[in-house]
Amino acid sequence: ALAPRVQAAIRAALGDEFADTDPVIRPFALKTKKGPNTKQDKGFQPGGGTAAPTRPAADLQVNAAMSLAKRAGRPPREVAEAIVAALREAGVDDLVAGLEVAGPGFVNVTLADDWVTGATRELLADDRLGIPTPAREVIPIDYSSPNVAKEMHVGHLRTTVVGDSLARTLERLGHHVIRQNHIGDWGTPFGMLVEHLLEVGEDSAEAELLEVDPNAFYQAANAKYRATKDDPSPDSFAVRARRRVTLLQSGDAETYRIWEQLLDRSKAYFNRVYDELDITLTDADLDGESRYNDELPAIGADLEERGIAEVSDGALCVFLDGYTGRDGARLPLIVRKSDGGYGYATTDIATLRHRSLDLDADRALYVVGAPQHLHFEMSWKATELAGWTRDKTRPIHVQIGNVLGTDGKLLRTRSGDLVSLQSLVDSAIERAAQVVAESRPDLDEVARGSIAHAVGIAAIKYADLSVSHDSEYVFDLDRMVALTGNTGPYLQYAAARIRSILRRAASEGGSGEVPAADQPVLELTEPAERALALRLLDYGRVVAEVGDTLEPHRLAAYLFDLASAFTTFYEHCPVLKAPTPQVRASRLELCTLTLRVLTDGLGLLGITAPDEM
Ligand code: ARG
Repeated sequence: ALAPRVQAAIRAALGDEFADTDPVIRPFALKTKKGPNTKQDKGFQPGGGTAAPTRPAADLQVNAAMSLAKRAGRPPREVAEAIVAALREAGVDDLVAGLEVAGPGFVNVTLADDWVTGATRELLADDRLGIPTPAREVIPIDYSSPNVAKEMHVGHLRTTVVGDSLARTLERLGHHVIRQNHIGDWGTPFGMLVEHLLEVGEDSAEAELLEVDPNAFYQAANAKYRATKDDPSPDSFAVRARRRVTLLQSGDAETYRIWEQLLDRSKAYFNRVYDELDITLTDADLDGESRYNDELPAIGADLEERGIAEVSDGALCVFLDGYTGRDGARLPLIVRKSDGGYGYATTDIATLRHRSLDLDADRALYVVGAPQHLHFEMSWKATELAGWTRDKTRPIHVQIGNVLGTDGKLLRTRSGDLVSLQSLVDSAIERAAQVVAESRPDLDEVARGSIAHAVGIAAIKYADLSVSHDSEYVFDLDRMVALTGNTGPYLQYAAARIRSILRRAASEGGSGEVPAADQPVLELTEPAERALALRLLDYGRVVAEVGDTLEPHRLAAYLFDLASAFTTFYEHCPVLKAPTPQVRASRLELCTLTLRVLTDGLGLLGITAPDEM
């Protein structure tokens, strides 16, 4: 963290009564002539020539006094003065150079130059880049979770990208992450799908569609079903499809074998998408609906026996306090439908029971579209009511907002389908190829192709991750692939630029070589160097914050800020042409550290930075 000792000292100073407060510490940005604390960088503007930045009045602002004052019923400035006095008493002179009460009750903190330099040197030697290791938790993460024999659409893309970033981040924080890809591989449509696969032949071109265009396969099966659904003759497709459902449920060997065919081919399709997007899910993470199928009748029977569920209109339902419809009547959570089938809700009672009791989850994350919120709340309440969770388990719905088209409506193709993931990825890479062709005409086609792939994927992932996961955003490819602005490609470009500086330094030899670790060369004299160092020192805190809040956009915002601080530094502090060899070596260390933090942070977002761009 930026200044854990300041934080600890404040907490100690406040006494037991406020032991639970986390004094919010906000770092100041570098001041420029454009006005105080503005985010001045909107992307690289080579030779933009902003005025030399000056040191801000303070490095940090502690704004704890405001809320504390309210609780203690005292004037905020008085509380702020008390904090300052307590900090002085705590003896933080080596850490803090200046303390000052500002405005209505803020405490402005200026860190001691020696401390900043020392901490940055320590960071250089830290493999974990300042990332803490909080108490280890077991965290199953349900994400991606597409449906078999259906195309992954843009909604699945976002849960896949956000879930994967959370998995990477929580793992880095030292937690035991268990990936759970809860694919939709069970239920009544599988009767029709199995029957269709049998009819077209397992080795047919139609069967092949499952791997390349699963929607086409699904729609063909569905069309046959709809055309015959009122035809009662025993060999009509619909009748056969319904019979298949029963066969599948009773474990008929041949039916089961065909169902596994469907599954295998769908897995091949999912894995191809995961591969292309660099998603960490593998077959070992599959935790599909079918896995819970055998448990469902007992869940129903148990809930009914214990009076937690009751039969209403032929269906077995749980009625929960506090969940009422518009008419004031209590909403049913349907455990068993009137036709005897078990559905989505019962399966999610089973997933939480498994993740809590068997996996021993501390937090159980469900990274799923926001519209399913009520479903999760109700099935979890029912699971808890039945006593099928450990006290320590906290189920959390990481709500995923919609992705909209530029018209502000859900992203759809002209024919009205949700846009497929593959077509989005293809067009992002295509658009990225145009950008790379313009920016790097000197590279050969193979090199440009691999950069374009990395840039296209980064564009998509960053667009998903840079806005808070529960808000909607507009899918605008032109903006997403741009090399300027708050985009994935901008951050990749920043990394590539630092790499090129380091390459040039290495080829120039001499003092360009990275100095031995036991000889500290890092010095921070210019305001822009200091500001960059303060950003770098904040990395660990931000990663930990993402682990707590489950909001990857905080890391995205941090990385954008870091890249901007680097740009300001690079504009005002010559590196290769530094005034002395010592300054050059020191600035090269800052470059190296920035590159490490930038690529590490991008890695936690699931984005790789190409060597050159
Ligand atoms: N397959 C579902 C869908 O496409 C998502 C499943 C999410 N996970 C869960 N445990 N319900 O909407």
